[in-house]
Amino acid sequence: MEKEDKRMQTIYTKMTEEEIDRDMIRRAGEILRAGGLVAFPTETVYGLGGDAFNPESSRRIYAAKGRPSDNPLIVHICRMEDLERVALRVPEEALRLADAFWPGPLTMILPRRPELPRETTGGLDTVAVRFPSNRIAAALIDAGGGFIAAPSANRSGRPSPTLARYCREDLDGRVEMIIDGGQVGIGLESTIVDLTEEVPAILRPGFVTWEKLCEVLGRVDAGPLVPEENDAAPKAPGMKYRHYAPQGNLTIVEGTPEDVASYINRRTAVHRREGVRTGVICTEETKGRYEADLIKSAGSREDENSVARELFRILREFDDEGAEEIYAESFAADGIGRAVMNRLLKAAGHHIVRV
Ligand code: TXA
Ligand code: MG
Repeated sequence: MEKEDKRMQTIYTKMTEEEIDRDMIRRAGEILRAGGLVAFPTETVYGLGGDAFNPESSRRIYAAKGRPSDNPLIVHICRMEDLERVALRVPEEALRLADAFWPGPLTMILPRRPELPRETTGGLDTVAVRFPSNRIAAALIDAGGGFIAAPSANRSGRPSPTLARYCREDLDGRVEMIIDGGQVGIGLESTIVDLTEEVPAILRPGFVTWEKLCEVLGRVDAGPLVPEENDAAPKAPGMKYRHYAPQGNLTIVEGTPEDVASYINRRTAVHRREGVRTGVICTEETKGRYEADLIKSAGSREDENSVARELFRILREFDDEGAEEIYAESFAADGIGRAVMNRLLKAAGHHIVRV
């Protein structure tokens, strides 16, 4: 068992974007300014916030998450004019992207200002900046001084939290406050685009798709669907760590819906004879075809945004319900499907079967 060092009483508070609790936000702002940590909702996933200009806050974020400190944090802002306080240069492409997608689920990599502590930027010359659209997030960033470093609010290696309940599971007693703002809308982390290269490049696919970025910038490098497993120094350092993996063994199955279902059902029968608990990640269209112990639909194939929103919740539920062998249907890797497949492949440790 991991040794727990629970030291504090975490404050829980609940609010909605329509009815922001100004008193609690003020209190959260005081916590952040004093070097404390607050988990909060964004439109993508819950974030674990600390003052980006306070090196001690960033050190505490790494400790609370159990995350390696060479993996830099995203700096969240809530005003366009604050971009220049963290970025040394703001290229014209950044302004065009901000115009099109901020506030929203896009993170830009830019040259960093030297005032930012190396604890926040992981010792890189660049900084990741995001201007979220969630109104609770915006109010919190403002109350906390305008610059909030925030990775996803999960313990390192677990799926990013899409509900406050999951922040609690991972971070209770390790952070000063958790703000419950309900289920997030998007469910996968922001798109990261690197603007420090000749051609802008996607480092992590997300809700702002390659297709949408191309409409604004013309030419954008879509990047690999998932970075090479053996790439020791990928551009986004976080991409090299094992992510999202459920405790059970996850396999992605690709093929026609009929072949996929019959393969998974054959495997289910074998596992059942061995007393192994099985799970399936499927869609509304196919859920009736399976015989596994746990059958979880992520929504309709017609609405891949729903698949994005439900995926991390489903991965966590399989852990809670003790799934040992998990099979997932595959999705076309374009549009938002690219982000879904990127996370699924990482969760599966690249284990994909073609039937
Ligand atoms: O949607 C999101 O982006 C969420 C919410 C909370 O805003 N945040 C999030 O943070 O996903 P995190 O820390 O889980 O992922 C940040 C990723 C990591 O893979 C990290 O390596 C990369 O961004 N990153 C941060 N700074 C970078 C930089 N200067 N250059 C390249 N990659 C960077
Ligand atoms: Mg993360």
